[in-house]
Amino acid sequence: MNVTTLSRRHFLRGSTATTAMLAVANPGLAEVKRPADPFIETLIGRMTLEEKVGQLSIFQDTARTGNLTLNPTPAMLASLDQVKRDIAAGAVSGYFNGLGVARARELQKVAVEQSKHKVPLLFAADVIHGLRTVFPIPLGEAASFDPELARRTARAAAVEATSQGLHWTFAPMVDVARDQRWGRVCEGSGEDTFLGATMAAARVKGFQGESLRNEDSLLACAKHFAAYGAVEGGMDYNQADISELALRQIHLPPFQSAFDAGALTTMASFNTILGVPSTGNRYLLTEILRHQMAFKGFVISDYNGDAELVEHGYAEDEADAALKAISAGCDMSLQSGLYRKHVPALVRAGKLKVAVLDEAVRRVLHVKKALGLFENPYRSLDERREKANIRQTVTLAREAGRKSCVMLKNDSALLPLPKTGKKIALIGPFGADKANCTGAWAGFGDIQTCVPLADGLRAVLGDNLVVVKGCAVEKPLEGGIDAAVAAAKAADVVILAVGESNAMSGEAASRTDISLPASQLQLAEAVAATGKPTVVVLKHGRAIALSGALKKADAILCAWFLGSEEGNALADLIFGDHAPQGRLPVSFPQLPGQEPYYYDHPSSGRPQTGKDASFKARYRDASFEALYPFGFGLTYAQLAYGDTSVSKPFISKSEKLLVSVSIKNTGTVAGHEVAQLYIRYKSASIVQPIRQLKGFQHVDINPGQTVNVRFEISAADLAFVHADFESVADPGKFEVWIAPSAAAGSAATFEMSAR
Ligand code: NOJ
Repeated sequence: MNVTTLSRRHFLRGSTATTAMLAVANPGLAEVKRPADPFIETLIGRMTLEEKVGQLSIFQDTARTGNLTLNPTPAMLASLDQVKRDIAAGAVSGYFNGLGVARARELQKVAVEQSKHKVPLLFAADVIHGLRTVFPIPLGEAASFDPELARRTARAAAVEATSQGLHWTFAPMVDVARDQRWGRVCEGSGEDTFLGATMAAARVKGFQGESLRNEDSLLACAKHFAAYGAVEGGMDYNQADISELALRQIHLPPFQSAFDAGALTTMASFNTILGVPSTGNRYLLTEILRHQMAFKGFVISDYNGDAELVEHGYAEDEADAALKAISAGCDMSLQSGLYRKHVPALVRAGKLKVAVLDEAVRRVLHVKKALGLFENPYRSLDERREKANIRQTVTLAREAGRKSCVMLKNDSALLPLPKTGKKIALIGPFGADKANCTGAWAGFGDIQTCVPLADGLRAVLGDNLVVVKGCAVEKPLEGGIDAAVAAAKAADVVILAVGESNAMSGEAASRTDISLPASQLQLAEAVAATGKPTVVVLKHGRAIALSGALKKADAILCAWFLGSEEGNALADLIFGDHAPQGRLPVSFPQLPGQEPYYYDHPSSGRPQTGKDASFKARYRDASFEALYPFGFGLTYAQLAYGDTSVSKPFISKSEKLLVSVSIKNTGTVAGHEVAQLYIRYKSASIVQPIRQLKGFQHVDINPGQTVNVRFEISAADLAFVHADFESVADPGKFEVWIAPSAAAGSAATFEMSAR
């Protein structure tokens, strides 16, 4: 039998609508006090210190892997004995990143029949955007601006994952990421807090389903708490040196949204924030998270995150690290084993109060109970479901792929291409490549069933398709460019499949230069020199700095990593069976050196608004504008926006304002539009962004039809965090847009009074 394992990279990664969205304010919510649960209190009362820390310790599954067909290796079998001894001793709370129901049942049986307190195990995994069926990377799916789609894919992932014996996913990743150098931009929803918060809630609802107790419900973990997306210079694991105001205004709301949607776990981030590593940051994990955000679940460290307090220079040694992490409010230790090793001794030495340990155990047991594990430890461990639920969701993967793709350019209406009568040359390293359909975070994905672009196109074009690689992802191929040029010359249209490989984004994959590698740029220039009409299909885990032939191509499709059905989804768009409808969740800069670059920045005192560039806030070699702004995306229809209008020029603080715009389809094909609501304070007590997204709506518009899109705005939508960390709206004058992107549309104005 073929032995396939998760990639080495996968295992290494750790070792190392309008809704008013509240920023996270200081005063307000109080810590949720749970009523004492007699069952859990009795259990805690009977546990030894060692058994208690067992409940706070989770480890990589060494007795299983992520591959269902894998025969156990001798190393795994050896490890199995140790694993069973640990479970029987009550020394472990669960395992992560292993699959397979039969072995999971075997382990659970040991937990509930041989361990003294019969506490069931939790089985967890990084199910980030699908399990065996892979959906678009979360950043790509965010481009759909469609929370219902995100809910549906998360639901489908949960059904598949729970049928493979999982209870808990380390997702959704809700980090707001405004620097495209950071490799992990691909895992979240991009640069905008409102979009991020909306997607966060949708994904939690999708994973967890109707009730946590259901067989197919997957416990969600909002991560990484907090401000991991703000790492300095975009370098992974770096410090996040931001103000507390920015923390509360920009980075915490998606977490609040995830918690409000029911997420009962969160993962402490690797970075320091406000000078203290998150894992040992009591202010963050207790004051803010529990007292102010009213988080009800438990906190897990990131992989080895507690042990890393030593390397951070925040703890003297491992024992000190364990003490600082658990005291800060980090309830469960992921992989390091530090709690097991040091916490009992810390309690015995009087350095840690047993009450602190008990509270962490209580939080974990409450979540296990909420999952229904005490009543049915074998929930989600059903071998019939395991066989039945695999790859039932490919149609959804194709739909999600289509809706996640963003068309940046379509000069002379090159797209859609006709299905017959044209010779197409598919050129580039990703044309026929299955392995790079999934992106960095799909270690369990079924690569063999992925549909690369070549297969999707061939299903329509048959012999009218020629596929030439041209170059490797990061190096030239001998004769590659000559073959590519010959193919381009013989074709009517070129499709250029270029971009980043899976390994070029994700954890520990930050880049200083977010352009494409030189080998691909050379290929693009050589193909462009043939003068053939060219469609660039871009594969990427972040915004890319486009230049030269790529920028000048007739058509550009942002395809991210679209997952299992990538080729079919793209073919649906390329041949016009469906129209592109995605919108950028991250701004595309003109040059890499503009990063960090995001649309909702405050204005300087010298913005460059017109042509005059002297002594303005810009670079010498580039203006301070995006090449393609946040929210941008074309479709095949021609849509014309009217002027934004407001229902009245003045409102009181308790009134609602109606904002509206007309959108006319002036073309001949039906259109799908994502109308976006943005606001700007003309003046505020703390300088506010030049625009901020406050809502979006999807509308279908037939040729010749005009639709009226309306949003309501209230003071809650205008609230922002003030210096005292209260989130309220200032009275004053505002601009408001309903627009097709963050850099388009006509503004209306209104004023809000102080009462
Ligand atoms: C490290 C990553 O930062 C985190 O996102 C992931 O869930 C853990 N490893 C477990 O694999």
